[in-house]
Amino acid sequence: MPGSAGTVPPAGGGQAPRTAPAPGIGALAAEASGAQAGYGEDALIVCDRLVRIYQREGIEVQALQGLDLLVEPGELTAVVGASGSGKSTLMNILAGLDTPTAGMVRVAGYDLGGLSPRQRLAYRRDVVGFVWQQASQNLLPYLTARQNVMLPMRLGRAGRRERATRAGSLLDALQVAHCADRTPGRMSGGERQRTAIATALANRPRVLLADEPTGDLDTATAADVMAALTAVNTGLGVTVLVVSHDPAVAAQASRTVAIRDGRTSSETLRHAATDEFGNATHHAVEYAVLDRAGRVQLPREMMRRLGMRDRVRLEAQPDHIGVWPHTSPGPQPPSPPPAGPEQDG
Ligand SMILES: Nc1ncnc2c1ncn2[C@@H]1O[C@H](COP(=O)(O)OP(=O)(O)OP(=O)(O)O)[C@@H](O)[C@H]1O
Ligand SMILES: [Mg+2]
Repeated sequence: MPGSAGTVPPAGGGQAPRTAPAPGIGALAAEASGAQAGYGEDALIVCDRLVRIYQREGIEVQALQGLDLLVEPGELTAVVGASGSGKSTLMNILAGLDTPTAGMVRVAGYDLGGLSPRQRLAYRRDVVGFVWQQASQNLLPYLTARQNVMLPMRLGRAGRRERATRAGSLLDALQVAHCADRTPGRMSGGERQRTAIATALANRPRVLLADEPTGDLDTATAADVMAALTAVNTGLGVTVLVVSHDPAVAAQASRTVAIRDGRTSSETLRHAATDEFGNATHHAVEYAVLDRAGRVQLPREMMRRLGMRDRVRLEAQPDHIGVWPHTSPGPQPPSPPPAGPEQDG
């Protein structure tokens, strides 16, 4: 049974640190968590120090190591990260298919760590829709597109006619109305994934989770399926979380969250702007994630270049914090302000 493997008791969203830290650090940690007591109050998805430990033949695999993530309603977020970084583990937990070993995860008010079987069923039926990489996991091969989309609705209260109408409009919205009476075997890869998205939306979920939905597709078709997810997000207001290996796919999301070693490590935020000539431009800014305990993951490449390891020296400036390798002479005494007007270099 998932979730029963670990020996760490669920933290249940409590504020207390899991291990007793040194007094000085403890005070800082308490301050850090106290300062954000309302962590994720308005968010639709809240992951608070999420831990998932798998036990495999006596060996512990820490798939998630205290992952923090907030997703606001209506966001479209891409999740990227190396193979084995914990992306699918996170998605399976958010989908209600797996439970965390420790930490708190809440989606649309459902505390996923402590659901009864009945609540879990309701959560999976009403709150989340899921699209997997393989079409065979998303669609039943012997049903037509329309029948596939109607299937999840059977668990709801809608009558047959209403279900057929909704299936028709969803297939239409996903631009696969022409596939309504075809089985998945007679569709293209892109059509199958669009039908899978329609199926995932059948019960009007607030959140759509997609784990590598474009992994089996060529570049053009992948962009097409990503465009469909964007349309679902903007047109239907569904909050979308999509895992992708493909930087081009991730670049289509306004927010990209990178996971490294089971933690969110950096975020890229993109926004469209208009330049002085009236042309649409896109700006992307990458941020390191500062977690609730004050931890930041320095990009590997930056650390390697400066030979940083084990410890770094910090220096607080009025408007920034300097980080030095501990072998370097470290912060120099402040230099006198330049004499003339501002100069570069
Ligand atoms: N059921 C399981 N039992 C044991 N270990 C697991 C299980 N599922 C995942 N892991 C391990 O947990 C870690 C994270 O796996 P996960 O599938 O979340 O990675 P991922 O980021 O989705 O990778 P990929 O990009 O290859 O899909 C890996 O080390 C993996 O081997
Ligand atoms: Mg995966």
